[in-house]
Amino acid sequence: MRTVVFSILFLLLIQINIQGQSKEVIQVETNDLTMIFTASQNEKVIFQYWGNKLDGVSSFLDRKVKGQPDTNDDFISQLYPAYGGRYYLNPALKLTHDDGVLTSELVYAGSRTKTLDSNKKETVVSLKDKLYPVYVDIRFVAYQKENIITQSATIYHNEKNTVKVENFASSYIPLHAESYYLTHFNGTWAAEMQMEEEALTHGIKVVESKKGVRTTQSENPSFILSLNGPSKEDSGEVYAGSLAWSGNYKLSFELDETGKLGITSGMNPFASTFYLKPEQKLEAPEMVLTYSANGIGQISRNYHDWARKYAMAHGDQLHPIILNSWEGAYFTFDEKTITDMMDNAAKFGVEMFVLDDGWFGNKYPRNGDNAGLGDWQTNKKKLPRGIPYLADYAVNKGLKFGIWIEPEMVNPDSELAKKHPEWIVKSGKRDILPMRNQWLLDLSNPAVQDFVFKTFDDVVSMSPNISYIKWDANRHVDNVGSDYLPASEQTHFWYEYVKGLYNVYEKIRAKYPDIQIQLCSSGGGRVEFGALKYHDEFWASDNTNALDRIFIQYGTNLFFPAIATGSHVSTSPNHQTGMMAPLKFRFDVAMSGRLGMELQPKDIQGDEYEFAANAIKDYKQIRPIVQLGDLYRLISPYDKNDWASHMYVSKDKKQSVLFAYSLKYHGRTTYFETKLKGLDPTKNYKITELNVKPGQSSFYGNGQTFSGDYLMKAGINLNIGNPFDSAVLLISQE
Ligand code: DGJ
Repeated sequence: MRTVVFSILFLLLIQINIQGQSKEVIQVETNDLTMIFTASQNEKVIFQYWGNKLDGVSSFLDRKVKGQPDTNDDFISQLYPAYGGRYYLNPALKLTHDDGVLTSELVYAGSRTKTLDSNKKETVVSLKDKLYPVYVDIRFVAYQKENIITQSATIYHNEKNTVKVENFASSYIPLHAESYYLTHFNGTWAAEMQMEEEALTHGIKVVESKKGVRTTQSENPSFILSLNGPSKEDSGEVYAGSLAWSGNYKLSFELDETGKLGITSGMNPFASTFYLKPEQKLEAPEMVLTYSANGIGQISRNYHDWARKYAMAHGDQLHPIILNSWEGAYFTFDEKTITDMMDNAAKFGVEMFVLDDGWFGNKYPRNGDNAGLGDWQTNKKKLPRGIPYLADYAVNKGLKFGIWIEPEMVNPDSELAKKHPEWIVKSGKRDILPMRNQWLLDLSNPAVQDFVFKTFDDVVSMSPNISYIKWDANRHVDNVGSDYLPASEQTHFWYEYVKGLYNVYEKIRAKYPDIQIQLCSSGGGRVEFGALKYHDEFWASDNTNALDRIFIQYGTNLFFPAIATGSHVSTSPNHQTGMMAPLKFRFDVAMSGRLGMELQPKDIQGDEYEFAANAIKDYKQIRPIVQLGDLYRLISPYDKNDWASHMYVSKDKKQSVLFAYSLKYHGRTTYFETKLKGLDPTKNYKITELNVKPGQSSFYGNGQTFSGDYLMKAGINLNIGNPFDSAVLLISQE
């Protein structure tokens, strides 16, 4: 009863009458955060606030900002600015109407909020053009516990003919501060997710991809925006966004003449005009947003909690330790090579064997990357008893079995390319440019979608003992074009390709909800929430060099959780970089993600064998903390001092594991010191160093008990300081 009275009072409070018009406050709220808009029928919807929850929201109804001298109009921030009216900045929406008019003016047409379940609330704000029958619905889903808000948009119209949609963003966020620091992530093959932070100046900074496929290899569609100074781990206001979309994207940051920053995020409008028919709906993907008043640590924990629950498969279950055959065998293997690898993997305590590239193709055998893609029949010469034999062999050894596919691609030297030239992405009569000797199949075509689904289905159906698929994609789009789409709709390709991919993913997940799928695209070319939703994990990079992985995983884990981050121990010297590193360092790095191995296991002998088997045993002990716990970063590898350290803490704060790495020679007398985070100050914790021989601990207090308060206030020091020294500490409540 009390709640009802309060709700009525609240509604009265936030509705006032301005010149006969009702003005209202719209709030999109999680447990701790809120986005606030004000709206009156037939007026623009104003974006008022995005941050921690606050009292007195009705004050937003009268809020004024300095006006524009020649018109007296406010420099207002809109929820979803369209190109038209007095708007001159980067618009979220730009379209050309049926009659050739270039402008749109979107005004409020109503909103509704509905509880989807105990943790999810949906709010839809409906906008319409002032003059034309064009409608845009802005949809928010607020995830209460995780403090995540997703925003997306849908457009449709009733004009007589087609409307040309030229810009159609997912979200627009206006901010106002003294200064803005943007963190974004650039990369290339084997060096993905390299973090860069810069102070924004007036004008527009754009982070984008036009590659169509493998879009996250060079820039990730995720950002962190810190107000009034560079971002810090545990303090300062930071906003973050990550676009859930597996195609071209554009994030733009426009600092205007009023000192306001407008962040527009969504599909990349480049060469993508969409000819929208009457009644047809076009949907922009979800932008996944969060905020923290206490630095980026909380941002990561919000994303990780949300991703484990809503943006990946099986995020609540422990993920297995894998031996993947790629770096151990590449294309050169036969049945015995593989069964030997399995024998040795099983001895280490590995839990799954994955057969990578090279197992298929007969007329065009897949003995290198130049032939066979598209012909998904087992190569009889290499594997005469077929995949079922290998899958059974694995299971008899106590291992699960997984297998690699790259179903969106085709080698010119393949039966498929000869049979279906019309399925290949091409630009009219221009050359089809190969990349890694392969072409791309046109997923905008439903027949290709069926083929890709069937490939998956057929491969999985080879044996009931296949429980994991590694789905790779090793090129991006160039010389774009589709034989399937009509000439007038070639610009739809970018959108339709991704929709086609999602159709296939949907069908696969409907039929195979339990199978584990790895998201791989030349390493980290598809690390974003749109695709991750259908997968259990991703391969963060083809670079398995532990030193480089510290940086790649640092950037990746700002948004994506450790449970989804495939992280494998490989051989030394490293195949990508030639760098030598001790086995301990390689394990200590890989164990902070989803541990696996990427080598020929028979090469690990003697002391190294003992070490590896023990490390795998220890990983099983710390796995629930790493995979399901909270990440606390202690020292960034990007800091000047060349250390890196982070912890995972179990949700109940009973167990924690700390990783520390020395990235260079620090001198004979310098040691590593850090204060711990995330523990319970009232509890005592016993610290045990893992991956270390008795008597060789780098921690003076190995085996001793300390209070959480002491560990977080006084901290600990470790005797590590040479390049590739490292330590892993298990911290358990007594
Ligand atoms: C690229 C992947 O990232 C590698 O792990 C491996 O699967 C190769 N492709 C196989 O061609």
